[in-house]
Amino acid sequence: MPKKLFIETYGCQMNVNDSEVILSILSDQCGYVLSDDPLTADLIVINTCAIREGAETRIWGRLDQFTVYKRSNPNLRVAIVGCMAERIKDKLLEHKAVDIVAGPDAYRTFPALLESLEPAVNVKLDKSETYHDILPKRIGWSKTSSYISIMRGCNNVCSYCVVPYTRGPERSRSVETILAEARNIISQGYKEIILLGQNVDSYNYEGTNFASLIRLVAALDRSVRIRFSTSHPKDISDELIYAIAEEPNVCRQIHLPVQSGSDIMLEKMRRRYNREWYLERVRKIREVMPDCGISTDIIAGFCGETEDDHKATLSLMKEVCFDFAFMFAYSERPGTLAARNYPDDISIETKTARLNEIIALQGHCSLQSNGKDLGKRFEVLVEGPSKKGENQMCGRNSAGKMCVFPAGDFGVGDYVNVRVESVTSATLICTLV
Ligand code: SAH
Ligand code: SF4
Ligand code: F3S
Repeated sequence: MPKKLFIETYGCQMNVNDSEVILSILSDQCGYVLSDDPLTADLIVINTCAIREGAETRIWGRLDQFTVYKRSNPNLRVAIVGCMAERIKDKLLEHKAVDIVAGPDAYRTFPALLESLEPAVNVKLDKSETYHDILPKRIGWSKTSSYISIMRGCNNVCSYCVVPYTRGPERSRSVETILAEARNIISQGYKEIILLGQNVDSYNYEGTNFASLIRLVAALDRSVRIRFSTSHPKDISDELIYAIAEEPNVCRQIHLPVQSGSDIMLEKMRRRYNREWYLERVRKIREVMPDCGISTDIIAGFCGETEDDHKATLSLMKEVCFDFAFMFAYSERPGTLAARNYPDDISIETKTARLNEIIALQGHCSLQSNGKDLGKRFEVLVEGPSKKGENQMCGRNSAGKMCVFPAGDFGVGDYVNVRVESVTSATLICTLV
């Protein structure tokens, strides 16, 4: 009987891809098979996030549940890995559910950690680890798309952010191993590759920058779409914008987190661009690609944020009219520059009120942006059945917008042409053409 592994993943796309690296290591070296039932598993791996306090609170709740599972299944072992493991380290072993703690750069040592009869910890960050030679085993979050991590870590040290501490310094993975992984993904029949990094625009491997890398990946198979995340406004170059525009199978979608529309906040956040710089980058993107989807991340209620700062964020949102946004209330993370230097002085009521205002405005912007697509035709990659109704399928256009359309003589992974007949703030409702 092969040993059964249950993996639960929190946090960003990079974490999802890390779980696929872990699955690859544990199945190749220890003979584990993936299971979807934590109650009968031999090993539970919980891949954690530390980005906001709420992300960690959820994990503590899960660990209490695993204690209960362990009572009915005494052989069960629980490993806590990822960013929260890195941040809290061996203190996690104080929870009686936890047997193993491993940080994001320690997954190669997983088999050794499992051999230990005692609780075991490895949270060493390794500034050269990119898991370049490990072919991730796909966990099956999508039938059409697959991730490739092209770099790890982050060198930016935005003052609010825990990532540089949990994932260490930035390092780029070799071009050759990225292309090898892309070829493998294509040979498995995936139709979309999503290149991942905390700041893909600063990718550099022995002189190959991100604009060159994306052209190399795109040229492998023109029937496979390429997306990428995340771009940093200070690093997104004209060269990259032209590469996206010129490569026919690179999707016209850029996730460009702005965080705030106020120069005072941007300075305190240590983002190293200002409002005008950001708006100029958006103008450049739209000048070269008027149909490019632009999405963002916004933080409400950062340290010392005044009503005027908040209004500046709202006005920037109106000026850009983002297609989509992830919006958060500021959550102080211990050890970050902001936690050390600025009091977390915006009340939870004010943070929530401002966040709600931002969310409401984004709803209008998404609807307005989708409204501009009425009557337009798009090529869509069919992802699967839609939740919107029977005989309805869904898939995204190049800009990343979700389209719903009637089922027809095609399947998942095919490209179809659709025309937009009506819209909501989240979806384009289409007919086939
Ligand atoms: N590397 C990416 C994003 C990483 S984290 C980038 O630089 O854009 C994803 C998002 O979480 C960030 O863009 C930010 O909006 C949000 N975030 C990060 N730290 C946060 C904190 N302490 N409180 C609230 N939101 C935070
Ligand atoms: Fe965090 Fe900034 Fe790095 Fe993004 S760029 S991961 S927000 S430090
Ligand atoms: Fe990702 Fe969360 Fe870590 S967003 S990088 S899993 S802190």
